[in-house]
Amino acid sequence: MTKNPNIVPHNHHLTRSDREQLLGQRGKVIWFTGLSGSGKSTIAGEVARLWHNDEKYTAILDGDNIRTGLNSDLGFTENDRNENLRRIAHVAHLMAENGALVLCAFISPVNADRDLITRIIGRENILWVYVDCPLEVCESRDPKGLYEKARSGKIPHFTGISAPFEAPINPDFTARASEQTAEEIAKEIIANFAPQIRL
Ligand code: ADX
Repeated sequence: MTKNPNIVPHNHHLTRSDREQLLGQRGKVIWFTGLSGSGKSTIAGEVARLWHNDEKYTAILDGDNIRTGLNSDLGFTENDRNENLRRIAHVAHLMAENGALVLCAFISPVNADRDLITRIIGRENILWVYVDCPLEVCESRDPKGLYEKARSGKIPHFTGISAPFEAPINPDFTARASEQTAEEIAKEIIANFAPQIRL
């Protein structure tokens, strides 16, 4: 996009580091990628709960919530998913710049969009979690009845059925979501990422 010469970003007096000192943590984005029904939001919620109990400041952004508000104008074509994720990445970046631990739960199915997300947020500010759960397991859980609808052709571009899901390359953490509980996974994630969020 071309830059508008009449827009000059303001450098505010209070810095990211001031806010991180206040909160006693580093701002980071933890981005959960995985199929619908893999457990992204549940695990993100568990991580938030455990961190909150440990007096960490968290925020959660997830697909169904963001798509009812900020991104209610977008659907599930390749272009719409790209725009969905681009906007969310900017929001998450702003929140991390303000010192929050931002838990993002979005299918984010393709590597090109994941690269875009990482570029917007900055590699040093993001930790990728692959919520790895076989399609058969997600489909048998079908918590929202969406796989059944997708199989019968009632939902177009459904991830894993009629739209692609690429396994991420080199995630920072892989959760075996069909083998462990959300709480067990959340505890492992917290232990794994502790050095990165420490001041
Ligand atoms: S993403 O691909 O753009 O990252 P996002 O995580 O925001 O997707 O939204 C996924 C949620 O939207 C799913 O959990 C599901 O409830 C709902 N949904 C509705 N239609 C689709 C579809 N065609 N493919 C995937 N998820 C869908």
